[in-house]
Amino acid sequence: MTNRVVVAIDGPAGAGKSTIARRVAGKLGFVYIDSGAMYRAVALKAMRGGTGLSDAAGLEELARGARIEFEPGGSRVLLDGEDVSAAIRAPEISPAASKVSVFSGVRRALVEQQRQMGAVASVVMEGRDIGSVVFPDAEVKIYLDAEPAVRAARRVLEMEGKGQTLDAGEVEREIRERDRRDSTRADSPLVRAPDAVYVDTTAMGPDEVERVILEIVRQRL
Ligand code: DC
Repeated sequence: MTNRVVVAIDGPAGAGKSTIARRVAGKLGFVYIDSGAMYRAVALKAMRGGTGLSDAAGLEELARGARIEFEPGGSRVLLDGEDVSAAIRAPEISPAASKVSVFSGVRRALVEQQRQMGAVASVVMEGRDIGSVVFPDAEVKIYLDAEPAVRAARRVLEMEGKGQTLDAGEVEREIRERDRRDSTRADSPLVRAPDAVYVDTTAMGPDEVERVILEIVRQRL
């Protein structure tokens, strides 16, 4: 095996990170890792088991005990052997994942696992702190952004495709609230790493974003 490479893609909720990271990983032949899915899995486990979303010690213990696995291609997420891919996308899990992610104990447990994943394969990993904290030496760092209204509209469209009707104003409020919590927490807040390339996708479609990112990766490697 040649040198392993990390492509870190960070940015706020709904910026298109998952779609783009999955596509870019496929093109590069790298493993795609959705770190947000791990915080979502911890939130789901807490809600199911009755652990309070402000119980720092309980949540840390739960995060340490959770077995979170990604199937190749990143299409399915397993929590303790159960396929929770759909369950972690339920609307109430988004704010819950953001709430559990403020606790340092939870973050330590998941960051450890994320680093192990990056130690055994070349990865495209997306999240909030991948370029700033998880892999500060990542070969490629991208900060993906878009106007909140556009991010909300994309989320509404995506959910429509799954047969769910959401109110765009409500989604935008939820996204803004989550951005505020994710960027103001004390431990590993969402920040643009100084060496990350900033890509504003407000006026871009997914094909164009993919092309731009692959070009950045080629230049960097
Ligand atoms: O990317 P996402 O929307 O699935 O992430 C859900 C929440 O998880 C997000 O609001 C904050 C948290 N998160 C985090 O704190 N650090 C990451 N690297 C990824 C997600």
